[in-house]
Amino acid sequence: MWGSIIVCGLYRCSVERNGCDMKIRQSQQHEMETLQRIHAEAFGEVEGPVIAKLVHNLLHDDTARSWFSFVAEADGRVVGHIVFSAVTFGGHPECQAFILSPLAVLHAFQRQGVGQRLIAYGLGYLEAQGADLVLVYGDPSYYSRSGFTTDHTVQAPYRLQYPEGWLALELTQGMLKSVQGALQCADALSVPEYW
Ligand SMILES: CC(C)(COP(=O)(O)OP(=O)(O)OC[C@H]1O[C@@H](n2cnc3c(N)ncnc32)[C@H](O)[C@@H]1OP(=O)(O)O)[C@@H](O)C(=O)NCCC(=O)NCCS
Repeated sequence: MWGSIIVCGLYRCSVERNGCDMKIRQSQQHEMETLQRIHAEAFGEVEGPVIAKLVHNLLHDDTARSWFSFVAEADGRVVGHIVFSAVTFGGHPECQAFILSPLAVLHAFQRQGVGQRLIAYGLGYLEAQGADLVLVYGDPSYYSRSGFTTDHTVQAPYRLQYPEGWLALELTQGMLKSVQGALQCADALSVPEYW
């Protein structure tokens, strides 16, 4: 899980947000409870506990060959969190692909661009690491703002409840045309109910 080993703060950005200082940085191991609280709050009573558990499982999952976990910090307080974990394609071992999941921003900080900044930062980081492709299962109107598209033939690992939410973004030009077939996620994400 080399995603956790990269030194925090190496790839750090800082922007002014409504007069307060917002930073995006890698999460640290001791922040697990904070991360889980963010998802529990943002996803609400029903989904919250499920996603909080997913975050814990994913960041402790040896089958998640690599992952990256970033937080948004406003005036020193962690207000948003995003995870990208590696996925593999049986027939395309050369393709370095990741799935974006989950993403959450505390209610009080929503609709201020925090989510989009976390996505943009993560995509830039992955691109700098040589990643080829990023997938996400979410609201198409939200993720299309970051360049994700439904115009691809990558198969989800499970039958999807909302096929229109299965989106992809190529970081290496042409990758979406050359990669086909089903992908394999980390065990923590390989739960049919999530899909
Ligand atoms: C989805 C979420 C991460 C967006 O974070 P955010 O910081 O509020 O998003 P941004 O400020 O970057 O973008 C806000 C824009 O996205 C839109 N948006 C926010 N949540 C959305 C959603 N679930 N679906 C579609 N669009 C959404 C808003 O309408 C807003 O657009 P507008 O300002 O033009 O009206 C946040 O609402 C959240 O944590 N929701 C609960 C958890 C969740 O659903 N996570 C995503 C699935 S993994």
